[in-house]
Amino acid sequence: TANTDKFRPVYHHTPLYGWMNDANGLVYKDGEYHLYFQYNPYGSKWGNMHWGHSVSRDLVHWEHLPPAIACDTLGHIFSGSSVVDKENVAGYGAGSILAFYTSASDKNGQNQCLAFSKDNGRTFTKYEKNPILCPSDGLKDFRDPKVFRYEPEDKWVMIVSADKEMRFYDSKNLKDWNYMSSFGEGYGVQPCQFECPDMVELPIDGEINRKKWALIVNVNPGCYFGGSATQYFTGNFDGTKFICDNQPNVTKWLDWGKDHYATVCFSNTSDRTVAIPWMSNWQYCNIVPTKQFRSANALPRELGLYTQDGELYLSAAPVAETKTLRKENKEIPSFTVSNDYHIDSLLTDNNGAYELALEITTGKAEIMGFSLFNDKGEKVDIYFNLPEKRLVMDRTKSGIVDFGKNSVPHEIEAHDRRKTTSINYIDDFALATWAPIKKENKYALDIFIDKCSVEIFLNGGKIAMTNLVFPSEPYNRMCFYSKGGTFNVDSFNAYRLGL
Ligand code: FRU
Repeated sequence: TANTDKFRPVYHHTPLYGWMNDANGLVYKDGEYHLYFQYNPYGSKWGNMHWGHSVSRDLVHWEHLPPAIACDTLGHIFSGSSVVDKENVAGYGAGSILAFYTSASDKNGQNQCLAFSKDNGRTFTKYEKNPILCPSDGLKDFRDPKVFRYEPEDKWVMIVSADKEMRFYDSKNLKDWNYMSSFGEGYGVQPCQFECPDMVELPIDGEINRKKWALIVNVNPGCYFGGSATQYFTGNFDGTKFICDNQPNVTKWLDWGKDHYATVCFSNTSDRTVAIPWMSNWQYCNIVPTKQFRSANALPRELGLYTQDGELYLSAAPVAETKTLRKENKEIPSFTVSNDYHIDSLLTDNNGAYELALEITTGKAEIMGFSLFNDKGEKVDIYFNLPEKRLVMDRTKSGIVDFGKNSVPHEIEAHDRRKTTSINYIDDFALATWAPIKKENKYALDIFIDKCSVEIFLNGGKIAMTNLVFPSEPYNRMCFYSKGGTFNVDSFNAYRLGL
């Protein structure tokens, strides 16, 4: 397919044509990362849900394969997960890939189904006795099965999002499922629809002998800045139920931007945990100004657990493989920002696909940051507001923004780490997002720009912020500024990125 889409990312995964939402069935096997995804092959808006399929050996170069599971007379093939059945408990042969998805239609509702692949995930056969799990109480929203192995009891666990909670089931043969428990009612940002669960056990601060579970709960709406976002809970899992470490009103966010949703992790990756976020928001995903395709996935991210002030949080850093994308490097010598400091040409022949890696020392500045802009004056502002302890990204004037306007302001009730606030947003797209930060002497920023997206990673992924932008030409200039005192840019590298 010829690429006539000026906003098509260079190094992010996108479907060749058509519509994509959630990553599905992420599984690693025999050196291949399988990325299935909610896919409409017939148009660039949501509909006719299939599982599209791409495969990669390094998480950055993706090969497009034909859709793996097509919708049928029972309905759409909604989101779900995959596992490798090493011990052949399901009877399709050791090493077969089993996919769990939701069959969804107005007529039949939402039911969990199974399909198996004996050819390394290329083609799937639907189980003849589908569905394998229906809502016992006739619940309308009952979907996105996540299946994982629970070693201590030599069994499998399935988590299904069930309206405003997650339901847990277990099974020995991956076909017969028993209800165990529910979690979530009243937890986190409220009220909102739970979707796309995942649950991973991770070492705390990299110490392999101390582990905790993180339950990932995608919520729509519920994003602090409107629309869809990914929250998580940390706690324990005893094989039957999840016990949260925190009070129900505590909300932890995996990403602080507006374009990060339906994030789930690969199965079968042994000691690494890699998540793929869908890089859009249900508020406007169907009307963003791309044409041949709609939606990209954000960079695959390695998840970890870290402690801060006695609390556990998830970090999300771009996978190490991302470094192989670096082409030429422009190294900018260190400088101090007191008055505006301009960089007039960031990269020669900038095609809009690059990375900015900066280390800064705070000094006495209260506000410190920069605008990233183009000759049309379209810009993104990224700055620290130290008195308010915030890292902010403002895309109000980033380029095409008008598709996000609402005629009526809508109020969003949301929580941050410290307090509950409600904000009126009249515009779903032209706004700033921010993350709470600790005041520190030094910060490291790693920022990935790819045609229509900006992903910010602070201090190795302790904070991640993902936002779309649609500039009419690449941002190739910068202006650093400070208020209240100076700050220092100790190191600054701009890398052109390419495949
Ligand atoms: C999340 C979601 C899932 C559902 C899928 C449908 O974005 O709403 O809950 O399975 O998208 O495409």
